[in-house]
Amino acid sequence: MQLLRDADIDPAPLAGKRVAILGYGNQGRAQSLNLHDSGIDVIVGLRGGSGSANEAEAAGLRIALLDEAVGSADVVMMLAPDEIHGALYKEIEPHLRSGVALGFSHGLSVRFGLVAPRADLDVFLVAPKGPGTALRSLYRAGRGMIALWAVEQDASGNARGIALAYGQAIGCARAGLIASSFAEEAEADLFNEQAVVWGGVPELLVAGFDTLVAGGVAPEVALLECVGELKLIADLIDERGIAGMREVISNTAELGALIGGKRIIDESVRKRMAEVLAEVRAGRFARELESEEASGYPRLERSRTDDRASLLERTRMELRKAED
Ligand SMILES: NC(=O)c1ccc[n+]([C@@H]2O[C@H](COP(=O)([O-])OP(=O)(O)OC[C@H]3O[C@@H](n4cnc5c(N)ncnc54)[C@H](OP(=O)(O)O)[C@@H]3O)[C@@H](O)[C@H]2O)c1
Repeated sequence: MQLLRDADIDPAPLAGKRVAILGYGNQGRAQSLNLHDSGIDVIVGLRGGSGSANEAEAAGLRIALLDEAVGSADVVMMLAPDEIHGALYKEIEPHLRSGVALGFSHGLSVRFGLVAPRADLDVFLVAPKGPGTALRSLYRAGRGMIALWAVEQDASGNARGIALAYGQAIGCARAGLIASSFAEEAEADLFNEQAVVWGGVPELLVAGFDTLVAGGVAPEVALLECVGELKLIADLIDERGIAGMREVISNTAELGALIGGKRIIDESVRKRMAEVLAEVRAGRFARELESEEASGYPRLERSRTDDRASLLERTRMELRKAED
């Protein structure tokens, strides 16, 4: 494993360069502000009528319409939602000056062909491994968030230097930059979202909650057991690892976990995880994401409504109110 930190990185490839950040959402906001505070010349590129314009300006950032921001930049960072990268790239391509660097914080749109960058461009990835809100708060605290980096296209011969200097300027090299590829980052990230932290874990919590409630346990007790302890175990794993977490829990919890964990996450689960990975690699999810966007996000809207109306969520709100 090669983990690069500030002392290993030359900031010169970004010196005197202008970086256009396209999109001022979760990552766009954090990366623009971190770059700005690192002394980089930043311009935020927004579509006409963007609701984010006032906020970016109030934060002291220069803003411009997409074509103007792109036309003035040496580095252009695609920080709008992945599913619109194809349309966004088509819109900005005529304004990209020859030889500029095009950056991404997720490998999806390049790996799965939503964007096919022009041959004269450098194409790089700096993917912070966490949300923009944390990227910003860590930077402000003098710390950083670990990130993966990669180069897909090196037209200038300087793409590696630009990628690393960019990762440094957003604060990630304070924690470490790990070499990867667009394909590896995209596939591992999509796999995790579906099978592990964002897909698997919440469904496990809901299934546990439902099972206890169906077994006659009060919803608030089921909630405290199955959902309430998640932060505790997440913090313990973060601080001590899985082995260290097991050392500090009671013998009762440790033996229960040993017997029950492998019974629930058995070979059939691992087999379905392998299927998810194979489907991700075949581009199935990227196609579903594009079609969800094209039809106005009906599945996401329905699931958001269902989640808000669920017994688990209503119990959580009631408990919150009672605690206040
Ligand atoms: N969320 C995270 O923390 C996270 C973590 C790691 C990597 N990433 C990656 O970072 C990238 C950005 O993700 P995000 O979650 O930060 O996105 P996001 O918050 O959903 O991005 C919202 C921004 O994108 C702009 N936008 C939306 N549609 C647009 C369009 N058609 N044309 C131009 N601008 C448009 C919005 O403009 P308006 O202001 O006009 O609405 C807004 O400024 C993605 O590649 C994602 O995979 C995200």
